[in-house]
Amino acid sequence: MSKGLFITGTGTDVGKTYVTALIVKKLRCYGLNAGYYKAALSGAEEKNGVLIPGDAEHVLRTAGLDMDPNECVSYVYRNAYSPHLAAILEGGAVEKEKVMEDYGRLMDTFEYLTVEGSGGIVCPIAYDKNLYLEDIIKMLKLPSLIVADAGLGTINSVVLTVEYMRAHGLPVCGMIFNNFHSGSIMEEDNIKMVEELTGIKVLAKVEKGASELDIDPKMLAELYAEI
Ligand SMILES: Nc1ncnc2c1ncn2[C@@H]1O[C@H](COP(=O)(O)OP(=O)(O)OP(=O)(O)O)[C@@H](O)[C@H]1O
Ligand SMILES: [Mg+2]
Repeated sequence: MSKGLFITGTGTDVGKTYVTALIVKKLRCYGLNAGYYKAALSGAEEKNGVLIPGDAEHVLRTAGLDMDPNECVSYVYRNAYSPHLAAILEGGAVEKEKVMEDYGRLMDTFEYLTVEGSGGIVCPIAYDKNLYLEDIIKMLKLPSLIVADAGLGTINSVVLTVEYMRAHGLPVCGMIFNNFHSGSIMEEDNIKMVEELTGIKVLAKVEKGASELDIDPKMLAELYAEI
């Protein structure tokens, strides 16, 4: 039976892909058959007439996985906008059926699938179909790990994200703080405060340029839910 974990963040560009890549690498180095999936990616670059999903490319390269990045992403948009708007402009709105099909295919291939969200937790995916990121998380039946920037403003953005997820019935199993500066009193206090205010643990801290995730791989693997 395969297992999955959803990676969301306190916003776009907080480091979901960067941290996900280190997670997948950690699991693979531990000997687990770990893979990556993202339903909708915006802001793709074009190479030789093909849109390249940069997030998947980064994760596959970091984790040493030799496969086509386009196999790991269902919908790839050129404009760096929310997927609902990118689809209005470019066509090809997200369909739940295709997400389930691609996810199912990767679940058959990998034992531990890490699924990256788009943007933060409030993200319209397909406007006409009233489809939001949280609908995808529920459809995939996955617990979430929240990636947050370690710096100023994170108490507010983490607590708002957790409260929203709780109000919408989305389980959160932990947090990872990105761009952490060792020895920063403020960032250490941010961790203490978000843990106190949410009751959820910060499981790892990732420094700028880190090439490894400092976490027990067995504990990391145990976060994944059986599907
Ligand atoms: N710890 C880090 N060290 C060095 N660079 C980082 C780190 N975290 C993030 N970055 C860089 O910051 C940028 C944004 O990070 P990333 O792409 O992981 O964000 P994201 O949350 O996945 O964004 P999106 O919402 O577009 O998927 C990237 O260029 C990434 O390489
Ligand atoms: Mg990303």
